[in-house]
Amino acid sequence: MLRPLLLTEDDELIRNQMQWGLSADYDVHIASTRESALALAKQLQPPVILLDLGLPPAPREATEGLQTLQELLSQLPRTKVIVVTGHTERAIALKAVELGAFDYFTKPTDLGELKLLLKRAYQLYDLESENLAQQREAAGQGFGSLIGTSPLMQVLYGTIRKVAGSDAAVLIIGESGTGKELVPRTIHAESPRAGQPFVAINCGAIPDNLLESELFGNEKGAFTGATSQRRGRIEFAAGGTLFLDEVGELSLALQVKLLRFLQDRRIERVGGRESIHVDARVIAATNKDLNEAVAAGSFRDDLYYRLHVITVSIPPLRERGPDVMLLAQAFLERVASEEKKPIKGFAPEAWDALRAHPWPGNIRELENRIKRAVIMAEGRLVTPTDLEFTSPAQQTPSLRAAKEQTEREMVLAALMKHNGNITRAAAELGLSRQALHEIIVKRDIRL
Ligand SMILES: Nc1ncnc2c1ncn2[C@@H]1O[C@H](COP(=O)(O)OP(=O)(O)OP(=O)(O)O)[C@@H](O)[C@H]1O
Ligand SMILES: [Mg+2]
Repeated sequence: MLRPLLLTEDDELIRNQMQWGLSADYDVHIASTRESALALAKQLQPPVILLDLGLPPAPREATEGLQTLQELLSQLPRTKVIVVTGHTERAIALKAVELGAFDYFTKPTDLGELKLLLKRAYQLYDLESENLAQQREAAGQGFGSLIGTSPLMQVLYGTIRKVAGSDAAVLIIGESGTGKELVPRTIHAESPRAGQPFVAINCGAIPDNLLESELFGNEKGAFTGATSQRRGRIEFAAGGTLFLDEVGELSLALQVKLLRFLQDRRIERVGGRESIHVDARVIAATNKDLNEAVAAGSFRDDLYYRLHVITVSIPPLRERGPDVMLLAQAFLERVASEEKKPIKGFAPEAWDALRAHPWPGNIRELENRIKRAVIMAEGRLVTPTDLEFTSPAQQTPSLRAAKEQTEREMVLAALMKHNGNITRAAAELGLSRQALHEIIVKRDIRL
């Protein structure tokens, strides 16, 4: 199976030429604007992207191209982007490399040279992906891109390992922000289909009338606006994995079409007669109770049984104990380096607040709070205020808070007993006079 390559080029002639030259080695996908490049990159997660810097609306300048480069890299930091420039634009090419492009290539295209460059980019991508996962696992911090060592996560990793080897349909359930997209990506990455496309589609985010052609594709003229033949996401996932997010939102009509695909691995494009075989593994996710939906008649039971051959349930963050700390530290390091801020860690009160918070929005909430905190923080340590926790001490008491409270109560009791005489109170508490004095000042203890 060919690996995905995203080619972003607005000049049709060059595009066709390159596609012709590369399609024997890669599964080439085409974008001609910034928007389509970003959308396709998100969908395909290609290891390598070829990016023409002169894109519309200003094809003679590199502004749009450099902007696209930055957005692509922030969206897919591990993807290797090779920029393509005209022969006079060396300074711009170097600027692109400085911004994080893997390499540059000048037009007119020498196909042999380009192929070598591409080969090197894919090799490096594979090497880095392997290293990243190995580092994490060696450090004992998680599994693939998943961070966490709590018992419930160990169970999840075991399940992922088992299901990765099979082609059976998997249904992922979990609260919002628990990793319902990251887990299927990890299953894919651990499966023999890794290296083939992972195609995600959110069934709840696309209006029903568009969703059908988005999933199944369409023939030219199938409906008003269908100006050309288009492959659907299911076809894009050929050889790889199709991830149907929020599958509970599918209309009954589309449920029937999807069921047919799950049964005999064949689809028909909208307006088409041909039945096309597609080998794609299906993983679905939902935060709805599909059992209830089946009982209410809004979800077909036969599709439900097909989808949940295996069910993987992701635990909420509040049940993962100290994983909160591991995740928080990892997010802090990542965002601090992205934002180039010299932040070293969390203030002790911030740790307490992180531990005490119940995380209704799970990892997504943690990630967002830390992102905001790093951007807002003025000191070298993130404070509870940066994290937008106003009164952490009033939440479930942490060990630190409990210790502080006990310390304060004992000191107060001893001082009262000895009428404020520090020497005698210190003797009773088994402390030096100076140590007691320090506590009194630090905790602002007054009789
Ligand atoms: N165990 C984990 N380790 C590291 N990052 C994680 C982990 N779980 C989730 N994330 C990150 O948290 C964010 C939310 O995860 P994801 O999008 O997979 O969750 P979701 O359940 O689909 O959320 P939603 O219900 O909001 O769609 C993502 O940025 C993801 O990369
Ligand atoms: Mg999601």
